[in-house]
Amino acid sequence: MEQTAELYKDLDEILVTKEEIREAVRELGQTITRDYAGKQPVLLCILKGAVMFFTDLIREIDLPVTCEFMAISSYGSATKSTGVVQIRKDLDRDILGKDVIIVEDIVDSGITLNYLKNALLMRGPATLRIATLLDKPSGRKVELKTDYHCFTIPDAFVVGYGLDYDERYRNLPDIGALSPRIYAK
Ligand code: IMP
Ligand code: MG
Repeated sequence: MEQTAELYKDLDEILVTKEEIREAVRELGQTITRDYAGKQPVLLCILKGAVMFFTDLIREIDLPVTCEFMAISSYGSATKSTGVVQIRKDLDRDILGKDVIIVEDIVDSGITLNYLKNALLMRGPATLRIATLLDKPSGRKVELKTDYHCFTIPDAFVVGYGLDYDERYRNLPDIGALSPRIYAK
C-alpha cells in the first residue's frame, strides 16, 4: 500500500521507510553471513512483532539456518511494558550447543529481552546474540546490549512492519510514530 493509504492517517510522521528497511535488512543479513561463516545458526523469531523483519532477514542470510518461533507477552499498559513476562509459545527444539540469534522487533525498556535472554542462557546454547530491528535507547530500564540493530529511534510509540498498537497497524509497510490521539483515547 502507498503512504497515502487510509491507515497512514493515524501516523504523526514516518520514521523509517520501507526502502530504508530493505537496505538495512540486506546489510544485516550480509553481516550475519560473515559473522557465522561455517556455522548453522538458529534464528529465533519473537512473535508476533518480529515476523516481517524475520522473514525478510533470513532470506538475506547465505547460511544453512534453522528457524524457531517463540511467543512471549509482557504485561503493561498498551504502550509501556511492566516487566512481567510470560512465555506463551516455547521452542519446538532444544538449543543446547547451538548458535542462537534472537530476532526481535524493538528493544525499549529492555525488560522483555533481558528476561528472555536469561531464560534461554539456562538452556545451554553455544552462543546467544540479539538482533533487533529498532532500538529505543531512551526507554531503557535495565542494562541490555543488543548485538545487531538496524535503526535507533527516538522516544515515540511506533507502529508498522510488524509492530502493533492493540494488534493493529502491523501491516503498514513503513514504520511511523503513532499519533498520541489514537492511544490517548
Ligand atoms: P521492552 O520490554 O520495554 O523492551 O519492550 C518490549 C516489547 O514491547 C517489544 O517487543 C514490543 O512488542 C513492545 N514495544 C515497545 N515499544 C514499542 C513501540 O514503540 N511500538 C510497538 N511496540 C513496542
Ligand atoms: Mg514484541
